[in-house]
Amino acid sequence: MKPEPILKIRSDDRQTAALLAEDFINSCGEILKSREYVNTVLSGGNTPKIFFEILASEYSGFKNWDRIKFFWADERCVPPDDSESNYGAVKRILFDVLNNPDTGEIKIPDENIYMINGINDPSYEAERYSEILLKEMNMNNYFPSPDVTLLGIGEDGHTASIFPGNYDLLDSDKYCAFVRHPESGKYRITMTGNVLKNSGSVNFLVTGKSKEKIVSEIILENGNFEKYPAYFIKPSDGKLNWYLDKAAAGSLQEI
Ligand code: 6PG
Repeated sequence: MKPEPILKIRSDDRQTAALLAEDFINSCGEILKSREYVNTVLSGGNTPKIFFEILASEYSGFKNWDRIKFFWADERCVPPDDSESNYGAVKRILFDVLNNPDTGEIKIPDENIYMINGINDPSYEAERYSEILLKEMNMNNYFPSPDVTLLGIGEDGHTASIFPGNYDLLDSDKYCAFVRHPESGKYRITMTGNVLKNSGSVNFLVTGKSKEKIVSEIILENGNFEKYPAYFIKPSDGKLNWYLDKAAAGSLQEI
C-alpha cells in the first residue's frame, strides 16, 4: 500500500530545512534504538546545502554521528573537489565542520562515508557502487533498503539523476546506473527507483517558487505528473514526506 504524502510546510527555506534537520536527527535516534547504524542517502543539488549547514551548526552535539552511514542518491562524474560534486558539497559543509583533525575529534569517520567516485569510468562506478549497496545495506524485496533518504526535485520532475524519459530506471533490476544529463550531456551515476522506493522514509526537500508547479502537479496528481520520475518514488512500505517552503507549496496545505 503506497503511503499518502505527508506535507510539512514552513515559511522559508531555512525554516523548512531546520524542520527536516530536526526530524532527521530524531529519526536516526529512533532507528538507533534497535540498529547499530543508520543508512542515509543524500540528495545533491543546491537545495539541501542549507540542511547540511543546519546539521553542522545546530546538531554538532548529536552523540551518534559515528553511527550514521552516508550514501548518495546520485553523483556527477566529476572529481570530488569539483564545485559540481554532490559529495564535495557535503564534505565542505558538514564533514569538515564536524571533524577536527587538529584536535583529533572525528565525529564522522571516513569508513562511514560511501562516496560515489566521480572520476571512475561511469559504467564501472555504477557497478562498484551497486556492490557497496548490496554489502552495506539491509535488503528488502530483493533490493538494498536505505533507512532515511533525502531527495530533491528538478523543474523537469527528475529526482536523483532519473530524468524524464529514463523511466526504465524507475523499475530497473539494477541498483545503480549511469546516465547522461539531458542538457549538458555530462555523465552521472544514480541510484535506481527500486532502491530509492525501498527506503524506510523518502523525504523530499523542495523550496522556491520555481518548484511550485511541479510540486502541485505531483501532489495533486494532475497536469503532467506521470511524466515526472519524482512522482514514482513512493516508498513501498515506508513514509513519504515533502518538506516545502511556502514558495514551493503555493496553495497546498499541510497534510
Ligand atoms: C543533483 C540532484 C538532483 C537535484 C535536483 C534539484 O545531483 O542535481 O540529486 O536530483 O535534487 O536537480 O536540484 P536543486 O536543489 O539544485 O534545485
